[in-house]
Amino acid sequence: MKVASPGLELQSFVQLSGDLPPMPHVASEALQKISEPDARAEDIEKILSKDPALAARVLKLANSSFYARSRTIATLRHAVVVVGLKTVRSLVLASVTRDLFEPFGLTEKLLWEHSVGCGLAARTVALSLRYSRAEECFLAGLLHDVGKMILLRHCEEPMRRIIQDVYNEPELSFMSLEQEAFGFDHAQVGRQLAMKWRFPEEIAEAIGCHHRPATAKILPALSVIVHLANAICHKLGLGPTKKPDLDLAGVPSARALKLSAEKLEALEESIRQVIQAEASSLS
Ligand SMILES: [Fe+2]
Ligand SMILES: [Fe+2]
Repeated sequence: MKVASPGLELQSFVQLSGDLPPMPHVASEALQKISEPDARAEDIEKILSKDPALAARVLKLANSSFYARSRTIATLRHAVVVVGLKTVRSLVLASVTRDLFEPFGLTEKLLWEHSVGCGLAARTVALSLRYSRAEECFLAGLLHDVGKMILLRHCEEPMRRIIQDVYNEPELSFMSLEQEAFGFDHAQVGRQLAMKWRFPEEIAEAIGCHHRPATAKILPALSVIVHLANAICHKLGLGPTKKPDLDLAGVPSARALKLSAEKLEALEESIRQVIQAEASSLS
């Protein structure tokens, strides 16, 4: 079902890249401030307060049990002090990412559920391995399939067909169907968006390599963990692709991380619990 010649495919990808949504203004201002070495909690609070919906969502996330300490965090200033700048950065990015899934139909809802699940799963895997970049794992997991949303917006009909086909036949390769239809895939589109939004390059890479972690060069561990988190979400039935019988021990990223079948089983269970407890704070 090829729709265009190779030249046109490249052209349409470039065009699509130009059409990628910009990072919302307040979020980009806040991220800029966070990246400055002398950033102060009150400055960040001041910027985020300009977008009350964004501010409310960041605060809600900061209070989820993943981050919350013994006391409720009542203000953004307090959130910055308690959870730290790096975490606030990922909370801001998580909040704006959610908007990319609007309008919220059934497919978008499933894709968002899958994204949240994968973010939480990637972080749980990182924490269990005592990997220091757990926050990056969360973000890369949350955003790994963002290219699907972009394609859904720009190439709606063929993309809905691909989602439906994979839903009916989970063994089909989503990436191959996209390559066949568009000449590029959601991982490439997601990487472009991450670059446009000036995400750290290792996160852009993990988004681009989440189906082929062996091709990652900057921080391969991130792509490997997101690949495994994605597989666990398929097994748990989170999102449009469901593979309840998947043998996780046979997944290349699980082997690369040297995770035994017992360890994988324990991880699957703790991820199930984390998702149950946390998914609503990201809804
Ligand atoms: Fe994907
Ligand atoms: Fe995925």
